[in-house]
Amino acid sequence: MKDRYAVVGNPVEHSRSPAIHAMFAEQTGQDIVYQRLLAPLDGFEPSLRAFAAGGAKGCNITVPFKFEAFGLAAVRTERAELAGAANTLRFDANGWAADNTDGAGLVNDLQHNAGRPLAGLKVLLVGAGGAGAGVLGSLIAAKPAQITIVNRSVDKAEALVASHAHLGVALSAATLPDAPAAQDVVINATSTSLAGAASPVDARVLKPGTLALDMMYGPKAQGFLDWAAAHGAEPRDGLGMLVEQAAEAFFFWRGVRPDTAPVLAALRASL
Ligand code: ATR
Repeated sequence: MKDRYAVVGNPVEHSRSPAIHAMFAEQTGQDIVYQRLLAPLDGFEPSLRAFAAGGAKGCNITVPFKFEAFGLAAVRTERAELAGAANTLRFDANGWAADNTDGAGLVNDLQHNAGRPLAGLKVLLVGAGGAGAGVLGSLIAAKPAQITIVNRSVDKAEALVASHAHLGVALSAATLPDAPAAQDVVINATSTSLAGAASPVDARVLKPGTLALDMMYGPKAQGFLDWAAAHGAEPRDGLGMLVEQAAEAFFFWRGVRPDTAPVLAALRASL
């Protein structure tokens, strides 16, 4: 029987992960199947246990179960610990192992696909919810000069600064209106694009050539990307991050690193 994996979420029918992992499997000759698994909002753990008991080897976890998944693991990678959330589980015989590959996915996309090494840059992270918290540790590991975290409720940004302060990069928190001007990289990790708003921060955060990335892709990201382009920034959606986080998960399960470039190109062409 083929090794089985899934993306577990609610909703999950929109997920592109099955298509991405099918391309990775074909490219690397790994004999796996990867499906979508809709878990009831109040029934994540039983759904997951049933999937694992049926012989599955692991899963990705998406909204809203990343925190619950983290709590179910016996061992966790350092980056999952920092995020306090897991997007990847491996069902090892001696206990479940949790990882969080979102931050590495974002950083790999920025540095390799977009060609923007973060070392020495000024980074603005907009949003201190689950998405922002999940990537901060990996952003810090890339050694930018500074990271400012802005959020509508500033206490959440301050909490992130406090929990990551020991990692050795200058971190500060501010409200959305107090976002600093002229940043090198601006990352939208809020869910405002779901509501159709262009940007939660003023255009003075941008300068010519700022890389402005929205973690979403498709129509949800368009308002932010149009706003960024209109102000001379280089817009980038979350599709590359999606493929890169999947590649990190694939490596966590299979020990094999897929080539992401053709997969990202195929996915972009299919949208
Ligand atoms: P996710 O897992 O997608 O990050 P979340 O944890 O609910 O979801 O976080 C949503 C983020 O979008 C938060 O940063 C939230 O700001 P608050 O922490 O102040 O709620 C932000 N957000 C959502 N709607 C917003 C809006 N209309 N304006 C500004 N920020 C918004």
